[in-house]
Amino acid sequence: MKPISNKTIKIFWPLLLIFSTLVFALAANTYRTQHRWYDEDTLERGAKLFQDNCVACHKANAEGSADWKMRDANGNLPPPPLNGTAHAWHHPKATLVSQILEGGSQYGGTMPGFGHKLTAKDAEATIAFFQSKWSDSLYQQWVKRDE
Ligand code: HEC
Repeated sequence: MKPISNKTIKIFWPLLLIFSTLVFALAANTYRTQHRWYDEDTLERGAKLFQDNCVACHKANAEGSADWKMRDANGNLPPPPLNGTAHAWHHPKATLVSQILEGGSQYGGTMPGFGHKLTAKDAEATIAFFQSKWSDSLYQQWVKRDE
């Protein structure tokens, strides 16, 4: 057998590093969407749609307003968190989609509807984005409520 050359060793370690980084990244991505209704592509599309349409009110990580329970002088509620700390998780996906497409006026709220701009699939993708902020146990409670 030929002895392993120095050159081979020099190439081996960086290759191993690249390979393990790739495996790790893949595993982390799979973990993010494991046991969820959405896949990685939907999540990425949703993150972008959320960034473009929702962050002005619901903030970058869907954390919403801190004082979301306090009505303002006109009796309106501020944008609630969608990250699992308020009650978006009480609603089935279809209700969330209709809230996004039709807006809050159906419930006496002020959120604008996005039906002129987003499809139901787009709305679902934004839901995937804010659901990615939910813990697994909260997500499971949401799944159970919908059964
Ligand atoms: C102009 C501010 C504003 C924008 C932009 C906005 N929202 Fe809202 N959103 C609100 C407010 C305020 C409420 C509370 C109900 C109401 O007043 O209509 C709300 C409520 C919601 C709810 C219901 C939460 C619950 O706990 O029941 C969801 C879901 C939601 N928004 C998703 C979105 C998504 C997704 C987008 C982007 C496509 C978006 N919103 C854009 C202001 C906004």
